[in-house]
Amino acid sequence: MVKLANIFVCQSCGSVHGKWAGRCDSCGSWNTLIEEIAEQSSGPKSKAITRRGRGIEFTSLQGDSTPLPRLKTGIAEFDRVCGGGIVPGCALLVGGDPGIGKSTLMLQAAAKLAISGKSVIYISGEESVDQVRARAKRLGLADAPLQLAAETSLGPIVDSLKSERPDLVIVDSMQTLWTDALGAAPGTVAQVRACAQDLTRFAKKHGSAVVLIGHVTKEGQIAGPRVVEHMVDGVLYFEGDRAHQFRILRGVKNRFGPTDEIGVFEMGERGLAEVANPSSLFLDGCENGTIGSAVFAGMEGTRPVLTEVQALIAPSPLGTPRRAVVGWDSGRLAMVMAVLEARCGISFAGKDVYLNVAGGLKISEPAADLAVAAALVSSAFDQPLPPKTVVFGEIALSGAIRQVHRTGARLKEASKLGFTNAMTHTQDGKRELDTHLECTIANIAKLSNLVAGFERSESVS
Ligand code: TYD
Ligand code: MG
Repeated sequence: MVKLANIFVCQSCGSVHGKWAGRCDSCGSWNTLIEEIAEQSSGPKSKAITRRGRGIEFTSLQGDSTPLPRLKTGIAEFDRVCGGGIVPGCALLVGGDPGIGKSTLMLQAAAKLAISGKSVIYISGEESVDQVRARAKRLGLADAPLQLAAETSLGPIVDSLKSERPDLVIVDSMQTLWTDALGAAPGTVAQVRACAQDLTRFAKKHGSAVVLIGHVTKEGQIAGPRVVEHMVDGVLYFEGDRAHQFRILRGVKNRFGPTDEIGVFEMGERGLAEVANPSSLFLDGCENGTIGSAVFAGMEGTRPVLTEVQALIAPSPLGTPRRAVVGWDSGRLAMVMAVLEARCGISFAGKDVYLNVAGGLKISEPAADLAVAAALVSSAFDQPLPPKTVVFGEIALSGAIRQVHRTGARLKEASKLGFTNAMTHTQDGKRELDTHLECTIANIAKLSNLVAGFERSESVS
């Protein structure tokens, strides 16, 4: 017999509790337990369900089925993040802050696929059919042979999809879906999990690719967070700064391709436009000779991207000086400052330190250590770095600069954009591969000498 039980589910981590508590024992979040009603099978029935003796069939790795070609949207930035197009029969989750442009991106991708002759269904639970039409008109895609529906109930959606068997289904958004098999309200962990599971199962069974759009909570996780990420084949995050026009699509999980790949878009009057050369965008307005600024040659997936790192050191009126970081890890900033203090004698006592990665990009590579150090040293000495210089390298606690991966690709990109010097781990004066960059620095102490030396040579000339 099926009996109903009241359970309390943490909306942050999805763990289930027997009774209400102010704080979730599993993840430590406060006020996240919400009462839900779950169906529980009682003992004798569950025993009856367990079928004995029915085995499963095993097969070998070698099979004669040829994989279906990937669905290419023709939006190169999107296809690359997916690993070369959407794999038929896969389930993708596209997450991001509300209003960042997820619906716009997926409508553009869906329309492009529909124009190329694939059957595509767009199900909107947030907007009416007229609103989606108006958006498509604004994007110049009103003629795309896309099938639209505004629906939030999972049952009718899956039934229609089974008969239609489209190549791609977009569900916007996952949080609006609900299934009447559960008593919980739409958007709760139980509903999101159940709906995602049903749609994922449908995708695998019928070979239609399913894209689920999901909103991110203020903690930066997709609501119903971990519970959905493990179910789907790929997770893409669409992020960006609302103050800036550009948006970054970042692959964080991909069963059929590389992760850490990014796609860069610019939001404009007519939707999202691809940015094929992001370095030029992130370096925009960064002039040579700016004090406290260093150009970092980083890697985003397989692509080198140049960004500007800015630092400001200012006298602090506070007892405990401020350390404010935007776009980088504050723990690593503390480490770089400690190394500069210990190895170069630069004191940050009584000074506020501000660090900003220009353009709103978030950097997580340790290779940015040296660029941060260079920006800090430049600000501390009140001197610009040598002109046309890119900086990258990981700093060890000893003060040594460690080599980072893909040095050649980073230098090539810098050379392409007109840089002539590079500060990174290498022998002094060595010219790397086929680039024309002069490489310097193998030690942090030399960094401050270099900046100080540049000051002297500037004042002499
Ligand atoms: P939307 O795709 O609705 O965001 P999400 O689905 O992630 O919530 O994007 C909404 C924002 O995008 C809105 O602030 C307006 C902006 N926008 C443009 O600037 N140009 C456009 O052509 C479109 C369609 C949207
Ligand atoms: Mg939307």
